[in-house]
Amino acid sequence: MTGQLSALQVVDGIDLSGKVCVITGASSGLGRESARALAAGGAHVVLAARNPGALAQTAQWIASEVPGARTSEVHLDLTALASVRTAASAIRDIAPVVHVLMNNAGVMFTPFSRTHDGFEIQVGTNHFGHFELTRLLVPQLAAARGARLVILSSGGHVLGDVDFDDPNWENREYDKFVAYGSSKTANILHAVEADRRLRGLGIRAYAVHPGTVATSLARYMSRSDFSRLRKYAAASTAARGEPTDGFLDFVMPEHGAATQVWAAVSPELADRGALYLEDCGVSETVAPYARDEQRAADWWTLSEKLCATS
Ligand SMILES: NC(=O)c1ccc[n+]([C@@H]2O[C@H](COP(=O)([O-])OP(=O)(O)OC[C@H]3O[C@@H](n4cnc5c(N)ncnc54)[C@H](OP(=O)(O)O)[C@@H]3O)[C@@H](O)[C@H]2O)c1
Repeated sequence: MTGQLSALQVVDGIDLSGKVCVITGASSGLGRESARALAAGGAHVVLAARNPGALAQTAQWIASEVPGARTSEVHLDLTALASVRTAASAIRDIAPVVHVLMNNAGVMFTPFSRTHDGFEIQVGTNHFGHFELTRLLVPQLAAARGARLVILSSGGHVLGDVDFDDPNWENREYDKFVAYGSSKTANILHAVEADRRLRGLGIRAYAVHPGTVATSLARYMSRSDFSRLRKYAAASTAARGEPTDGFLDFVMPEHGAATQVWAAVSPELADRGALYLEDCGVSETVAPYARDEQRAADWWTLSEKLCATS
C-alpha cells in the first residue's frame, strides 16, 4: 500500500551532497515534497516550474524546513518548447553535471486545448515538453557517470494508449480521460526507450506511479469526473483481484512522493532501469502496450520528429 514510507524517510541515511537534482513542477504537490526530501539528503536541488511566485515560495519553504539547503530556481513552461530550450540552457549554466532529472510536472483531465507548438495540452505538457528537456540535458546527465531519469507516469495510463496516427487529437473527438491516460503511457514508453538508448552513457530511466495523492492535480475535475474516475479505479482494482470499497484512497504528498524519491536515490536500483515503480518497489502492473520495446522505440522516433519540427 502506498504511503507507508515518507519521502523524507527514503533519504534518511543517504548522503546526496555533491549531487544535483533537477525537478520539474517543483512548485507544488509531489515535486515540492520531492525537492524537500532531496535537499534534506544534501543535494543541490534545481526547482523548475512556470509560476515564479510559487517557485520563490517553494524555495523559501525548503530553506525553512532544511537549514542550509541549496536550491536554484529555473522558469520552465512545458507548453512552449521555446521555454523548455531556454530552461535547459539555464540549467546547464547552473549545473554542468546533473545526477537526477525528475520529470514530475503534469496536468490532468484538462479541457481540450493546445500548447504553443500545437500539441494537445496533456501530452504536450506531460510528455513532449519533458521529452525535449531530457534530450537537451543528456550531456549533463552523461557527465554524472551514473545519472537517473525519473519520469512521473500514473496507474491512470490504463485509461489510454498513445495513438501513433493521431498523437495530438486532430482527427478524433476529444476524451480528456483517454488523453491523460495516453500522456501517461507516453511517459512509460519514454522511460523504456530512454533506458535502452542512454544506459551506455550511465543514465538509467524509471517510470513512477506515486499512488493516489491529495494534490492540486485534480484542479480541473468536476464532480462527475470524480465519479467516473472512481468507477475506473474500482474496476482496475477488481481486475487485479484486490478488494475495493469503491472509494479513492488518497495519501498526503509527504508519503506520495516516496516512490519518486526512492527512484532517484535507492541503492537497490543500481544497474537496473526501464522499470515501472510503485510503493517503493518494482511493479508489474503496466499495461502491455506501455512496456512494449518496439512501440517505445517508435514513440521515441515520433517524439523526436514532432519536437524537431515544432
Ligand atoms: N496526485 C496524484 O494522485 C498522482 C497520481 C498519479 C500520477 N501523478 C503525477 O504526478 C505528477 C505531479 O503531480 P501532482 O500530483 O504533484 O500535481 P500538482 O500539485 O498539480 O503539481 C503539478 C506541477 O506541475 C506544474 N506544471 C503544470 N503544467 C506545467 C507547465 N506547462 N510547465 C511547467 N510546470 C507545469 C504545476 O505548476 P502550476 O502550479 O504552475 O500549474 C505544478 O508545479 C504529475 O505528472 C502527475 O501526472 C499524480
